Amino acid sequence: MSVRLSNGREIPIEMHKIRIVQKVRLSPVADRLAAIEEAGYNTFLLRTRDIFMDMLTDSGTNAMSDNQLAAMMVSDDAYAGSESFYKLADAVKDVFGYQYLLPVHQGRAAEHLLAKVFVKPGDVVPMNYHFTTTKAHFEMAGGKVLEIYTSEALKTESSCPFKGNLDVGKLEEVIARYGAGKVSFVRMEATTNLVGGQPFSLENLRAVKAVTAKHGIMLMVDGSLISENAYFIRQREAGYANKSITEIIREIMETADLCYLSGRKSCAVRGGFIATNNKSYFEALRPWLPVYEGFFTYGGMSSKEIEAMAVGVREMTETEVAGASAEFVKYFVERLGEKGVPVVTPPGGLACHVDAMRFLPHVPQSQYPAGALAAAAFIVSGIRGMERGSISMDRDGDGNDVPSDLELLRLAVPRRVFTMSHIEYAVDRVAWLMANRDLVGGLSFIEEPPVLRFFAGRLAPIGDWGARLAAKFTADFGAAS
Ligand code: F0G
Repeated sequence: MSVRLSNGREIPIEMHKIRIVQKVRLSPVADRLAAIEEAGYNTFLLRTRDIFMDMLTDSGTNAMSDNQLAAMMVSDDAYAGSESFYKLADAVKDVFGYQYLLPVHQGRAAEHLLAKVFVKPGDVVPMNYHFTTTKAHFEMAGGKVLEIYTSEALKTESSCPFKGNLDVGKLEEVIARYGAGKVSFVRMEATTNLVGGQPFSLENLRAVKAVTAKHGIMLMVDGSLISENAYFIRQREAGYANKSITEIIREIMETADLCYLSGRKSCAVRGGFIATNNKSYFEALRPWLPVYEGFFTYGGMSSKEIEAMAVGVREMTETEVAGASAEFVKYFVERLGEKGVPVVTPPGGLACHVDAMRFLPHVPQSQYPAGALAAAAFIVSGIRGMERGSISMDRDGDGNDVPSDLELLRLAVPRRVFTMSHIEYAVDRVAWLMANRDLVGGLSFIEEPPVLRFFAGRLAPIGDWGARLAAKFTADFGAAS
């Protein structure tokens, strides 16, 4: 939700009140420098005690509602046949319109099962964009991920409302080239995370479906941010302004054949699921659930999480919940844009994304500008963001770095966690960093794991720019800031 003030400015407005809080600490800049050095300039390796605002992710970090917490108290711990499962199944049926449900412990567990059952060696897997865990699972199963986005997707500065759309013409070409039998499925990520939380339109999804249906190919939605994608359709797509979030989600799911998701985002709880109305897909997946996750009625989630998810699935369809993060992201992006900071536009779901290649034009991509920017932002603010660039890409089979399409610093806005003054603080410090960006240099790896290296890799600054940046910050704000 947003409201227009009498001075004409539109601001996000919280349709909730905060009654449980978690204390945070803003440590002085020298301590922040020491912390990031200890973390190998990788924000994943920081500890909470050193972080002021945790904008690493919106995954599992959202504020739960009173009703979610209350539901956890009445969960049914039965190993098999848990009533909690049936509550979740009812919620998924009501919101998604899907009758078959497989709970899993989180999104990547769903990807693991889908890869195991549907991706064969030599297959191709077309999608609007990859996510890190998605690509890892589908490629480990022998598939090749093909990203067939539209020409607008990778333009960080854009007014295109649906940068998450898939290029339908290219999809036809892929099917003609490889043959429908080699296409595991087509995956549409509801707001493409790695290109800035950008939605697809229902018009595009229907056009994709027309192609997949013609060739008998499954159309799958990654619905981790489904309520945000629906929120953007409501705001941006002609004919949807008066539809409810539930109606839009139902229309997406009627168009698709199957949906999987990480519950940690839109549903505000640890967990995930795969849901469908297609009995044969369900039956192909089902035997593997107890092997890898847990019995059919819990699938690796605790009964408490299942209860909270049953509530979360319904609550995410309330307009003010679906837009809780999106409206703050919009405000954040617009303020930074006004200050000349290169941000991804239009504002997407989940996070404000800063274009590190435009922010740090003097840092070559081989020196990981987005990683450097994430570390620099932490030093000057205590805000932990995430690198979404070449560090998040693993090396190719020959050991070469794979330059990412985009080098982004992601500053996630978990739902209902931060206040306006937090956002104003973040805007101010990022703008200060922009004014002092010449001080920021690149990074190089000193320890590099072979898979998903961004999680545990350690890097070092090229030169002593961390210390010089901290010194300039101290000169401007004082050692205690
Ligand atoms: N799909 C999408 C679109 C995601 O954003 C994520 C996770 C996953 C799948 C995997 O789900 O974490 O529950 O296993 N995104 C997190 C993030 C990690 O920080 O954006 P998971």
